Amino acid sequence: MTAQVVERTAPAKTILCGEHSVVYGRPAIAVPVSTMRARASVSPSPKGSGLIIKALDLGHELVLRNARQDQPLARMAQLVLESLGSPEPDAVMTLSSDLPVASGMGSGTAISVAAARALSAFLGSELPPETVSALTYEVEKIHHGTPSGIDNTVIAFEQPVYFVRGSPPELFRIHTPFHLLIANSGIAASTRDSVAEVRHRWEAAPSYYGIIFDCIGAIAQAARAAVEQGALQALGVLFNENHELLARMGVSLYQLDRLTSAARAAGALGAKLTGSGQGGNIIALVEPDTLDDVRQALLAAGAIATWHATIGG
Ligand code: PMV
Repeated sequence: MTAQVVERTAPAKTILCGEHSVVYGRPAIAVPVSTMRARASVSPSPKGSGLIIKALDLGHELVLRNARQDQPLARMAQLVLESLGSPEPDAVMTLSSDLPVASGMGSGTAISVAAARALSAFLGSELPPETVSALTYEVEKIHHGTPSGIDNTVIAFEQPVYFVRGSPPELFRIHTPFHLLIANSGIAASTRDSVAEVRHRWEAAPSYYGIIFDCIGAIAQAARAAVEQGALQALGVLFNENHELLARMGVSLYQLDRLTSAARAAGALGAKLTGSGQGGNIIALVEPDTLDDVRQALLAAGAIATWHATIGG
């Protein structure tokens, strides 16, 4: 074990196309947002103190040996220790994040990935992305119940990913870097509740929802091709169509429709909600010369914050 302070980070993510239908086996694509990050640092502490985890943004502090098994950060630490066959170190792990919580940017996942990376590095054997992703998936189950696995994959690999549940993730390349404006509706969204509501609706009308899921899956496939070819106009149209289908699925809100419409009217190539919906964020595909207009329009339409992310390049 090293006796030095170790710091590791992990990015935010955004789902470009395919949220919700990905839970039902259809493809989805997601990209990391590398400029927004969660951080974990691990430093040695006096002998016998055990592992103490401090989540600065949440104001939580917990001692691993006293923590509940279903506490996500404690579970992450336990999984790393089990995976390395390592005893609990005497150390303090401190976590912080730039990411807004409960808004579809993967804040909980990014914290888990940063924690797994930092703790394993502190213990002298950094875990590979596949293992970090698999361990994080176990923690996602505590957060979300039935996660598809897309969030842990895109964040642990920090690469664009084409994801079909149950198949190995396909990493793909971005032909031409593109610009997203991410806008926060200010409405906290629960992924668990939103996924559960879609499940109830699907159970009540499986063929109708099956068709929606199929259409979204086809959109995700076409969106991957658009990103790989640099066909940004086409990608914008696919964003719009995906948003319409998510609205039919019942996961949009008036506020999210208002933000996506405002972005399009101000010149965005396309816009959609991202993540579980019912609040959280929308993404707008913008060109550099419309970025400021779209940002102003989003703020005027009720966004409480916007972020510009360059994807790829
Ligand atoms: O809201 P987020 O960022 O956790 O995204 C959830 C994506 C869903 O497709 C709705 C659920 C999942 O597990 O893939």
